Amino acid sequence: CGIVGYIGPKNATPIILAGLKRLEYRGYDSAGLAVLENSHIEVRRDAGKLNQLEALVQAKPVSGNVGIGHTRWATHGVPNARNAHPHLGSTGEFVVVHNGIVENFLELREELGAEGVTFNSDTDTETIVHLVERYYALHHDLVTAVRMALNNLKGAHGVVVMSSREPDKIVAARIGNAGGVVLGLGEGENFVASDIPAILEHTRRVVFLESRQMAVVTRESLQVTTLEGQEIRPTVHTVAWDPVAAEKGEFRHFMQKEIHEQVRALTDTLAGRVDFDNGKIRLPQLNLDAEGAKKIKKIIITACGTAAHAGMVGKIYLERIARIPTEVDIASEFRYRDPIVDADTVVLAISQSGETADTLAAMEEGRQRGAKLWSIVNAIGSQAMRVADGFISMQSGPEIGVASTKAFTAPLVDLFMLAVLLGDLRGTLSEKERFDLVADLRLVPDLVGRCLDREDEIIPIARKMKDAAHMLYLGRGVNMPIAYEGALKLKEISYIHAEAYPAGEMKHGPIALVDKDMPVLAIAPLDPWYEKMISQIEQAKARGGSTLVVATEGDTRVPDLADHIFWVPKCPWLLSPIVTVIPLQMFAYHIAAQRGLDVDQPRNLAKSVTVE
Ligand code: G6P
Repeated sequence: CGIVGYIGPKNATPIILAGLKRLEYRGYDSAGLAVLENSHIEVRRDAGKLNQLEALVQAKPVSGNVGIGHTRWATHGVPNARNAHPHLGSTGEFVVVHNGIVENFLELREELGAEGVTFNSDTDTETIVHLVERYYALHHDLVTAVRMALNNLKGAHGVVVMSSREPDKIVAARIGNAGGVVLGLGEGENFVASDIPAILEHTRRVVFLESRQMAVVTRESLQVTTLEGQEIRPTVHTVAWDPVAAEKGEFRHFMQKEIHEQVRALTDTLAGRVDFDNGKIRLPQLNLDAEGAKKIKKIIITACGTAAHAGMVGKIYLERIARIPTEVDIASEFRYRDPIVDADTVVLAISQSGETADTLAAMEEGRQRGAKLWSIVNAIGSQAMRVADGFISMQSGPEIGVASTKAFTAPLVDLFMLAVLLGDLRGTLSEKERFDLVADLRLVPDLVGRCLDREDEIIPIARKMKDAAHMLYLGRGVNMPIAYEGALKLKEISYIHAEAYPAGEMKHGPIALVDKDMPVLAIAPLDPWYEKMISQIEQAKARGGSTLVVATEGDTRVPDLADHIFWVPKCPWLLSPIVTVIPLQMFAYHIAAQRGLDVDQPRNLAKSVTVE
């Protein structure tokens, strides 16, 4: 879900609507806003996407100098208008927007119900506003009431409260990891948001709330305290992101734009970190020296979705290059598995948003068990960056499309650089090996650019395949995770059922599925598994399946076996995943676009899942 709030001399409504637009990727099954108009709270909210809310506001305008808004991704209560945020209390004088889940909401609902409160929605959030009302009636002070209300809640939360009784302020708070709370500092105006892009248009000076902190925001001031009331001196960060970078530009969809931004993102990823002359990698924000590197006995990569697929490639890099035993654990599994972790273990989280609840919980689990925490994160200042002992900042820039693309290839390069750095510090690489690996990195942006140049060849293949009901993706070795990532892209945005398998496993089951209606997509560049992939493709072909193959330019065997070929340039095999994934991103994109689907905001998905 996404939150935006404004207090200042301007009309809050358009500022909130524009901010919500930038946060729509966080969830979008309903949206709403509340504005203080002539000393009373006006709420507009509806199910559906933001344009529903915009239409509603146009039909029934509302204006005022203080307001809060929300886009919702349903957890409790179906996505309809009465469950949309903001939620008003019984008196209409208090209003709340909220990210997270009130885990004890059934008890609270019962308790409040017994006190005579009637509920107007099925949401857990509504309990918060009634609690605020309860404590306001006792103490006549908004900040105290919010603080006391929050102390009743179980679970992780980002909460913003506004009241007509105290119209000069907005109160915001964060407990745990339910998405961030960012405060934006302007001149005579201030902002609240769950994420920076919402307010970047207005200010670059931001303060991040930590867990169990709350903020009182007025036009002229910002006061941060702990939930216990202890005053905190906030650190003001200056954000460098350019708001224009978050626009779609010449492209039809953000996803397509972001696919094309990979050359730039990867160039920036290398810049300043790779010293080609000396064959060295520099990742200063990891705070790593030779002693620290030698101490590491195990690395556990933890992440969700696309980021976890990047981790699967990372495992191969870290093991082959740095010779460190590495596991990849889906974050939602790691935390409940009673994992074996100690002070010589590094828990390495990968996350575009840095706010995914499962990933943050996995980091917390690692922390409690004494591990060193590292993260590879795109969103600057996000929680996964702040709680880590060291981090690598992805240079992808804001990613808006729900299906991740440029925030997949950047961490692949980050993981490769990390492996080389660790190999260097631990002495597992000869000087020649290190120089060669570093030199290979220089090729990456150009190789990706050459894949993008072939977009026109992919469009007709997408047209042929767009009505497929199923697809099987196969890969092996360093390209096995790319089968998973390619299949995920197709599922997410085109709703075609796609299954990924390590190619060698095909004979143990999935081959039973292959017939003329089951297209098989094989990733078969010139890497150490090439011969084996060729024999897999032959087997699929023999069973009548149509074959789509990612192959290296100049390959002479694939054209005899493949119905469709995605050509990629010749490249060092360890880096080939960064190259082979590009045509699969474009393939999924063009299928979804040709099917006329909502590419950037596929049904049921959210860009950043801030609930467990
Ligand atoms: C959601 C998104 C995925 C993403 C995953 C992890 O499910 O839809 O595209 O890969 O979260 O997100 P993160 O921000 O942690 O990388």
